[in-house]
Order: sequence, then C-alpha cells, then structure tokens
Amino acid sequence: MKIGLFGDIHGNLQGLQAAWRLLAGAGTDLSICTGDVVQYGPDPEACVSFLREHSVDCVQGNCDRAVARGRRTTGDEFENVHWSRLAREALEWTRTALSEPARLWLRNLPEERRFAVERQTVVVTHGLPGNVSGGLPSSADGEVYDVILERSGAAVLVLGHTHEPMLLRRPRGWIVNPGSIGGGSLPSAGTAAILEIPEKGPVSVSMLRVPFDIGAYSEASSAAGLPEVFRRCVELGRDPRGAWHATDIFVRQRWAEGAV
Ligand SMILES: [Fe+2]
Repeated sequence: MKIGLFGDIHGNLQGLQAAWRLLAGAGTDLSICTGDVVQYGPDPEACVSFLREHSVDCVQGNCDRAVARGRRTTGDEFENVHWSRLAREALEWTRTALSEPARLWLRNLPEERRFAVERQTVVVTHGLPGNVSGGLPSSADGEVYDVILERSGAAVLVLGHTHEPMLLRRPRGWIVNPGSIGGGSLPSAGTAAILEIPEKGPVSVSMLRVPFDIGAYSEASSAAGLPEVFRRCVELGRDPRGAWHATDIFVRQRWAEGAV
C-alpha cells in the first residue's frame, strides 16, 4: 500500500493542491494529514473543504485546536513578543474566516490515528504522542526515538509540527515527518512524503519536494491582510539562500522585518 503523507498546511491552498497532484500522480492509495490545516495562511476554509472532499485522514494540530476552541494562542513559541502578537492577530483572523461547519470539523479531529497496514501499525499524531504541541527534533539522542516508538506501539510513527522533514530508521521502526506543505511561522519550502508498505518486503519512505505557486499564495495572503511576516516565512522557504536565515534568529528577525 502506498500512503501519501503531508501536513502543516497552514491555510496554503496552492501548496495543498500541488501536493495532492504530486501524490495522486504517484498512485497513492490513502492520504494522511499530520494536522495544522489552518492558521497563518490565507485559505483556511478552502483547505478544510479540500481535505473533507477528498476524505483525507487528518489529525488535529495545535493550531487547529486553538482556532476551533477560540483560544488566544496556538502554543507555538516565538522569538519575541512582536511575533507572538502577530500570531494572535492571525489566529483571530483565521477564526473569523472559517465557517461554523469547518470549525466543528477541526474541533472533532482526533489527536491520534492508528492504522493497521499489512500487519504493521502506523500511528499518526501532530506533535508527539499525547502532546499536540511537542516537536520532535532530528538531533535527539537515539534512545529518545526508541522510547517514543516503543510507547506508541508503532512500526511507523508519523509526526508533523516542526516543519522539518525527517526520516529515521530505528531498530523498532520508522519515524517520519513529511515536513510542511509550505506555510506558517517557519520558513517552509513545501515537502511531503510517500510511505510504502508492501504485502511482502521492507517498508520504504520517499521524501518529496512540492513546488507550488508562491506568487498566487503571496497575493492571496496580501489580499487577506494577514501579517506580512508569515507570508515572508513562506517566501523564505523558497529563497535559494535557504535555511541560513532560519538558524540565526536575529538575521531571521531582521529579514522578516524587511531590513535584510
Ligand atoms: Fe503545529
């Protein structure tokens, strides 16, 4: 079975459509979304509709939960109060941009989904099992991954939230993070993954780059009047200079404010 993995869409419809085309073209049998469908991007309602229409199996992200429950914060951490204030503004905007049925759908998303595929257990959650806002970095000690895998009971554990594509093969199983469709508060270039679990033979995972129409995304974001800094994060993900901006928070801040 071929399973398309994607998530952290953050209201980026162009990215979502591009990922869908790519995964459908690759012949996937099932689509799984790792959550954070909304917040920061200009098309939350359309992204929810798209996932519902295409019967995508989705888990709830911290942003989905915050929007659906009318919270003032997503639980995401920012470098400074300026960004936090902008994130609150975006949260309020997203809440008002969503219809009641869409909010209800987000509210009712499960925190975790478990699938039995060819006698293998696939567990999907947004942050960490039992912690929707907990991100799993790629730099942790191997033991940490082993404990998380063992406690989850997963042969393949699928996570999101960090926007960092990650693929780990441990003795007990796999940890896969497909990264982000290309949205939100972190520079995200647009990535997804395909998990293949054959009837016989080994599991395999391929990571995919998902190019999307960044111009159309930027236009929609500007037209919605969303904080510019989050649009620039998405554009930064497409910046050929790459991640050096993101690793230095001071450079990143200056860049976001248009000073670099
Ligand atoms: Fe998240």
